[in-house]
Amino acid sequence: MRCRKCGESAALELRRHNAAFCVPHFTEFFRKQVREAIHHYRMFTPDETVMVAVSGGKDSLALWDVLIEEGYPTVGLYLDLGIFDYSRESREKCEAFAAARRQRLLIERVDAAIGAPIPEVQKATRRPTCSACGLSKRYLMNRAALTHGFVVVATGHNLDDEAATLFGSVMHWQTDALSRQSPALASTHPKLVRRVKPLYRLSELETAAFAFLRGIDYIVEECPFAAGATSLAHKEALNRLEAASPGAKHNFLFGFLEKARPAFQRGQDVQLTECASCGQVTTGEICAFCKLADQVKRRSTPLARSSGDPSR
Ligand code: AMP
Ligand code: FES
Ligand code: ZN
Ligand code: ZN
Repeated sequence: MRCRKCGESAALELRRHNAAFCVPHFTEFFRKQVREAIHHYRMFTPDETVMVAVSGGKDSLALWDVLIEEGYPTVGLYLDLGIFDYSRESREKCEAFAAARRQRLLIERVDAAIGAPIPEVQKATRRPTCSACGLSKRYLMNRAALTHGFVVVATGHNLDDEAATLFGSVMHWQTDALSRQSPALASTHPKLVRRVKPLYRLSELETAAFAFLRGIDYIVEECPFAAGATSLAHKEALNRLEAASPGAKHNFLFGFLEKARPAFQRGQDVQLTECASCGQVTTGEICAFCKLADQVKRRSTPLARSSGDPSR
């Protein structure tokens, strides 16, 4: 196998691109895909500081690495979910990464915001753990960006993540979710920051290879609550399709973004207001995060427990 660019011995074969690359040309390919994503969706400009939400995993740290190397001003945000050793270790990975590159890392504790760590939040709600966690993460990313004056938050979602989310939304024809599925969501309210996913063109395998080749020390373990999540089943199904027909994930996601998404956007311009409790954006009177925090609070109040609170 020879590198497509220089003809030297290739280190990596990318079947969906029908190409192979040596190490320097693979990292160049990777960065070019990120540049292309930023450019195509006008995600941010070099004079905007990008808040990079980092989980300690390969994707978000690879993203942070590329943005620093490309010369963008960045700041990291780590949300401490309070998930036992998993959170402790992932926080340490983020801190070590930031310190080695002399970058600022902001840390927010979910328990301080919602009244309990994620494993306890799960007990207070009928939602699957990942759903309450995802809601809290989106809320806290937006709030942290507003508090610190940043206009854009970047996450490490990759092609596999995006294709799996799309698959899940299509399976249930969740038209709201389909209208919001995009590598870049503009700010549609002064209290809602722009959200971007500059790795959406790159597969999980490619980000893992990039992180490894760049010597990034990331947490390999998955979150303990991820086991059995439907998103993993969707990823596995898509991986089987990809093995049989390389490029299937790419075609599925990119075909949707180019051809189908506009149809779902029509009539989906929801009116945003400010939550009566916390002031963050919501479509109702009280935002979903405040409702979740209220459930957590009621569950931890002995009176609510002994009175058989029906919301439990
Ligand atoms: P996940 O929801 O775990 O698939 O992660 C998707 C993206 O969300 C990651 O690539 C990060 O950018 C961001 N993210 C996930 N967990 C955290 C966290 N604990 N703190 C900050 N950002 C996170
Ligand atoms: Fe949120 Fe696993 S990271 S439940
Ligand atoms: Zn080469
Ligand atoms: Zn609220």
